[in-house]
Amino acid sequence: VTARRELDALARRAAATPGLIPLAGGLPADRQFPRAALAASFLRVLDARDGAALQYGWPEGQGGLRARIAARLGARVGAAVSADDVIVTNGAQQAIAIAAASLARPGDAIGVEPASYPAALELFRVRGLRLVPLGEARVSYVMSTLGNPTGRALDAPGRRAAARGRWIIDDDAYGELAFEGRTAPLWQGRRGRVVHVGTFSKTLCPGLRVGWLVVPEALRARALRLKHGDDLQANSLAQAVVDDTLAHIDFDARLAVLRRYYRSRAARLARAIRRALPAWSFAFPEGGFSLWLEADGRVDDARLLRAAVDEGVSFDPGSTFEGLRDQGPTRLRVCYSAAAPESFDDAAARLARAWRRVHGAARPFRARRAAPHLSS
Ligand SMILES: Cc1ncc(COP(=O)(O)O)c(C=O)c1O
Repeated sequence: VTARRELDALARRAAATPGLIPLAGGLPADRQFPRAALAASFLRVLDARDGAALQYGWPEGQGGLRARIAARLGARVGAAVSADDVIVTNGAQQAIAIAAASLARPGDAIGVEPASYPAALELFRVRGLRLVPLGEARVSYVMSTLGNPTGRALDAPGRRAAARGRWIIDDDAYGELAFEGRTAPLWQGRRGRVVHVGTFSKTLCPGLRVGWLVVPEALRARALRLKHGDDLQANSLAQAVVDDTLAHIDFDARLAVLRRYYRSRAARLARAIRRALPAWSFAFPEGGFSLWLEADGRVDDARLLRAAVDEGVSFDPGSTFEGLRDQGPTRLRVCYSAAAPESFDDAAARLARAWRRVHGAARPFRARRAAPHLSS
């Protein structure tokens, strides 16, 4: 906890440092927010005679929006998904929280990937769940389509391990941002075992906080009670705006633009890292917002981040993603999504200087295995 607090303080210091190049945070590019379309939608839904955008609604969310989500998801998983299967949530984060509360009690174990999404790991810890490797618990939390921080699909051994449990929470937050287009999230199958989590945070904007949860029939009543008890319903205005925006823009064309945009940034940051830190390794992402780097040695995360902030660059320390306390080399998440691509060469050079400063003084590290080093 102390280490996490120190890293959090450093992250805040980094965010407030003028001239620092931010490779931390995993934010979507704000220049890609569809501001004009959202503004028009706000005006339209506020103007609507029924006033629904400003009124209370049902805990499962607004019907039209649920139908859109169901149709898109059905096309991706190749199965009929009904609007009745969908619960609109306050972002994917609340969907994960409801899923976890529906399936596990304090003291239970939850299986997670070796590198996983920190806010989910933190939520599980706060709820008293024990983090264990995939396959060792009744409930697993995975990102089958595109992982955060890896930017890659869950591999076959990970899928097999997750399938050994009874329930799988599949967080598809980045699934529609795969560079090559289509991805298929895990689906419920015969045993109705997959809880699906999605969001508009990465494809429209996170500020509206609109995500969703699709649970098997057997869990629906409990999930709805938890949702209702938590906050009655997702924000009516935000739901109405998202629904109206989707009715007025070509969302698939937008996704195609975003995929190209993020892919070219990924390639540019990958080039810069390879040039400045040739001994580090990483697998080129299949989508998402970040590169997951493995350094050629091990140093303390906080020392490296402090040195990096002194040099004028930030990153997300690997330990926050590694819920299972991996003891391997130092790992870092660097995000290409939000910083200016023209700054990537500088950012990588600053990171390399910080690494030399901290690692130069550290003991040499013997790698346990060869890391994959794919390229774009
Ligand atoms: C893997 C993953 N799941 C869920 C979330 C939360 O998304 P939302 O903004 O929809 O709550 C994030 C946000 O970064 C994420 O990376």
